[in-house]
Amino acid sequence: MLCTNRAFDISRSNPKDFLLFIVKMTNNIKQIEKEIKMSKLNDVVLNQLFTEARTVHGFLPEKISDVQIQELYDLVKWAPTAFNGQPARFVFIKTNEGKERLKPALTPGNVPQVESAAVTVIIAFDTQFFEHLPTQFTASNAKALYENNPEAAQTFAMRNSSLQGAYLMMGARALGYDCGAMSGFDAAKVNEAFFPEGRFKANFLMNIGRADIKAIWPRGPRLAFDQVAKII
Ligand SMILES: Cc1cc2nc3c(=O)[nH]c(=O)nc-3n(C[C@H](O)[C@H](O)[C@H](O)COP(=O)(O)O)c2cc1C
Repeated sequence: MLCTNRAFDISRSNPKDFLLFIVKMTNNIKQIEKEIKMSKLNDVVLNQLFTEARTVHGFLPEKISDVQIQELYDLVKWAPTAFNGQPARFVFIKTNEGKERLKPALTPGNVPQVESAAVTVIIAFDTQFFEHLPTQFTASNAKALYENNPEAAQTFAMRNSSLQGAYLMMGARALGYDCGAMSGFDAAKVNEAFFPEGRFKANFLMNIGRADIKAIWPRGPRLAFDQVAKII
């Protein structure tokens, strides 16, 4: 009722305001519809994403196509980041040539994992991510907060690219792939081999493919709620 009265008032004053009001109301309705649609996922889905999802250390010789990689990105790109800043950059390494370039930077135990994976992803971040803020976040001038503050920019880039990397893992699992993250590598060597111009920096690596079940290690325990959390 309130809404109808307001629409009536605006429609009498200015057609442009009225149009904007309608757009805003439509967006509000879409948001409400979305909230109504949110529901608990079933156990099959929860198991695949969480309880039965395992870190994989070796993979079967199955390939992932460029189209499937694009599909993965199209899911993962919706990850939320501060100011919608999206600092992560992804290098999807499929070829032997690319893997050979990566190998000298890996700790020895990670070499066979990379060799067998369909794809090894370098999750990096763009140190100049703020260049995109004017188009990606139009509500305020967020770029000004980071362009002259390298410390804040570094914190931002690490935090948000790590989140995007976690979304990459969940996205891969949601699409039915197995994966295993790796921080056992020399970041300076990866940066030199893949980002010699210095703008992008490696955060961590992730193998994606189809699990070789022989290469799944025994499940480690998890800390109990009381050890890590409190409700206040
Ligand atoms: C950021 C990150 C870095 C990791 N680095 C390595 C690594 O370098 N080599 C390795 O074999 N496993 C690595 N792991 C795998 C972890 O040891 C594994 O995820 C953890 O033990 C839990 O195993 P689960 O997922 O099977 O329960 C890493 C995992 C994460 C998330």
